[in-house]
Amino acid sequence: METFIRPHVGQGAMTLPSQWYVSPEVFDAERERVFSKRWLCVGRVEQVERSGDFFTAEVAGESLIVTRDTSGTLHAFFNVCRHRGTRMCETASGHFQGSIQCPYHAWTYALDGKLSVARNMAEVPGFDRADYPLHEAGIAVWEGFVFVNLGCPVASAESAFAQAFAPLIGRFAKWNIASLRTAQSIRYELACNWKLVFLNYSECYHCPLVHPQLDKLSPSDSGRNDLSEGAFLGGYSELRKHGMSLTTTGSTIRPPIESVDGADLDRVYYYTIFPSLLLSLHPDYVMVHYAKPLAPGRTEIVCAWLFDPKTMALPNFDPTDAVEFWDLTNRQDWHVNELTQLGLSSRAYAPGPYSNAEGLLSAFDRYYLSAMGA
Ligand code: FES
Ligand SMILES: [Fe+2]
Repeated sequence: METFIRPHVGQGAMTLPSQWYVSPEVFDAERERVFSKRWLCVGRVEQVERSGDFFTAEVAGESLIVTRDTSGTLHAFFNVCRHRGTRMCETASGHFQGSIQCPYHAWTYALDGKLSVARNMAEVPGFDRADYPLHEAGIAVWEGFVFVNLGCPVASAESAFAQAFAPLIGRFAKWNIASLRTAQSIRYELACNWKLVFLNYSECYHCPLVHPQLDKLSPSDSGRNDLSEGAFLGGYSELRKHGMSLTTTGSTIRPPIESVDGADLDRVYYYTIFPSLLLSLHPDYVMVHYAKPLAPGRTEIVCAWLFDPKTMALPNFDPTDAVEFWDLTNRQDWHVNELTQLGLSSRAYAPGPYSNAEGLLSAFDRYYLSAMGA
């Protein structure tokens, strides 16, 4: 990656040069080297509970159809007809009645991707339906999250995912995330590069100034990292007092998630899952941020709040205290991220030194640069 300016190598870790956040060439290179090759989270498995349920996902400029076939197997099909390439499915989610039909000439695919009907093609010399199944990306499920990988063959998806996610598999068993359900989600569009969201999430140096409401409940210097190198980075912060929760009131009537116990009742864990997910584990709920780059300076974030379905079934269940707390915190973060994007774009910007509270940020940069082959 000679064309991009290398980060300054000095005494301590420095922030990256601005190109990495503003350049269209870097954005295109990321699409090729990162987003077309890595496992990207696109949703939850409950969105495709029954055979024929589907949702579409846009990843690295591709449209995928995530659906479940009649044998229960999940697929991530490229939304591209094998006849003349037409995008077949235009809706965000829904239910296929047993097959996927192209709206152009009605070529029809079974839910496992096989071409089952191709009108008037029997007479075409050499044509065999078996040669034209839908193209598929690799797909895997972890803790109820659906991950896709454009660069991974379907046949090796399971083992490739298990290898890539080895440091995380089983790690959050106490939160039983697979069983949780989304109570609410909010979509944000940010005027900043996606990496600034990951960097900002990885430090609480800014918390006393930017999030006084968070600092009141969880001291900004109480963070301890337990994953500090590689694709997955993070650790925990302490709650100030036993029984607190990160809510608008600082407490909650919700019970903790069943098997969360001991010190974890007084902690919130925060992890970045490169390059598409932020995972925040609270005693009584799990929050996730799904991240999707839209342009060098534009990022979509969907924040979702997940709870135990038993808690959600209680007559007094109300997620508002958690949602409003983090919606405010999110907006405070987005604002400073957008300010950073503005400053990075200035001719006056030059890499600055990371503080000792920003070790995860230089680890993120290192990992990112290695993923980019820089
Ligand atoms: S392009 Fe799909 S059936 Fe012709
Ligand atoms: Fe923040």
